[in-house]
Amino acid sequence: MIQQAARDFAQTELKPGVIERDEHQKFPAAQIKKLGELGFMGMMVDPKYNGAGMDVISYVLVMEELSKIDASASVVVSVNNSLVCFGLETYANEEQKEKYLKPLAAGEKIGAFCLSEPEAGSDATSQHTTAEDMGDYYLLNGTKNWITNGSSASIYLVIAQTHPEKGHKGINALIIEKGMEGFTVGLKENKLGIRGSDTHSLMFSDVKVPKTNRIGKDGFGFKFAMKTLEGGRIGIAAQALGIASGAFELATQYAQERKTFGKPISEHQSIAFKLADMATEIEAARLMVLKAAWLKDQGLPYAQASSMAKLFASEVAMKTTVEAVQIHGGYGFVKEFHVERLMRDAKITQIYEGTSEIQKVVISREILK
Ligand code: CAA
Repeated sequence: MIQQAARDFAQTELKPGVIERDEHQKFPAAQIKKLGELGFMGMMVDPKYNGAGMDVISYVLVMEELSKIDASASVVVSVNNSLVCFGLETYANEEQKEKYLKPLAAGEKIGAFCLSEPEAGSDATSQHTTAEDMGDYYLLNGTKNWITNGSSASIYLVIAQTHPEKGHKGINALIIEKGMEGFTVGLKENKLGIRGSDTHSLMFSDVKVPKTNRIGKDGFGFKFAMKTLEGGRIGIAAQALGIASGAFELATQYAQERKTFGKPISEHQSIAFKLADMATEIEAARLMVLKAAWLKDQGLPYAQASSMAKLFASEVAMKTTVEAVQIHGGYGFVKEFHVERLMRDAKITQIYEGTSEIQKVVISREILK
C-alpha cells in the first residue's frame, strides 16, 4: 500500500514538471510540502515525535518509487529521513527532539546534514570547521561544502572540531538554525545531475551556538556522523535502485514500441539481452537494498550490508542508465525521454554519502575485523 502510494505520488505529483525543474534547477518545494503531509519526511520516526512510525523496508520502497521519476526530490526525502531525523531521534535529548525533530518529522521544516568541507570529503576526520568551547556556548567558524538542502533547510546538523589535539575524538555535532547570526548560505552549485535539489556551501563566522545544541557527549560528533551515514547509505542505495529501475522501465517500454528492420527493437537479440542483463542486476540490487533495510529493522548490524548495497546499486544505476540511453538511440539524448536525466542523476549515487571507494574501505574493514 505504501509502495503504491509513493508510485501514484511520483506519477501525479513529481512527473509533471520534472524536466523543467531539472533544466532550471528549481527546488520541488510544493512537492516536498505534500510529501511531508503524507508522512514521507519522517517515515521512521516515532509518532510521538510527529513521525509516521514505519519501518526501514517501507522507507526503501518509497525511496525507490520516488527515485524512478525524480531523484532531486528523493534526495531531499532521504537526507531528511535517514540522516537528520534518524540522527536526532537516535542521539538527541528530549528537549532537542521536542524542538527540532518534531517539525522535521512532520515535514514542516527541512533538515540538512553538514559534514563535507572543501578539504574533508572522503577524509571526514579532517574537519577544519571549529567549534571553540566558550563556556556555555560554542563559537562556530568554517565552511561546509556540497550541502544538500543548503538553502531550503532551516535546521542543520553541523560537524565541527572542538579539540584538535584529540583528532576525531574531539569532534562535535551541533544543531544550527537558519537565521543564527554569522551563518550564511553560499552560492548554489550548478550540477550535472539532481539539479532540482539545492546544493550549497555554508559559511559560519563566529556563530554562537548554545551548548544545549550539542548532540550527545563532548567528542561524540564523529561517531554520530558515521553511525548516521550507515543508515543514510541504505537510503541512497534505494535511490540508486529507483534510478536504475526507472530507466529500465522506460527502456523496456520504448524497446517494444520502436521498430527497426521490420520489428520492435526488443525482438533484436542485441536489445533483448541488454534488457535481460539490466533486469538481473536490478533484481540483485533490490535484494541487497531490502536486506540492508531488514537488518536495520531487526536491530542487527548493517554497516557492511548498507555499504555493499550502496556500492552495488549505484554501479547498477550508472550502467543501466547508460544502456537505457543507448536503447533509446537519438531519442535518449534529448530531455523529453527522461533517460538522459536519469543517467546524469545516477552519477551522484557513486559519490555522495561516501564514494564507491569509501564503501570499499568500509566493507573491507568489516570483512577483516
Ligand atoms: N560506527 C561507529 N564508529 C565508527 C564508524 C561507524 N560506522 N566508522 C568509524 N568509526 C569510528 C572508529 O571506530 C574510530 O573510533 P575509535 O578511534 O574510537 O575506534 C573513528 O570513528 C575513526 O575511524 P577510522 O579510524 O576508521 O577513520 P578513517 O579516517 O580511517 O575514516 C571513513 C573512516 C570510513 C573513511 C570515514 O571517514 C568516512 O565514512 N568517510 C566518508 C564520509 C562520507 O560518507 N561523507 C558523505 C557526506 S554526507 C552526504 O553526502 C549527505 C548528502 O548531502 C546527500
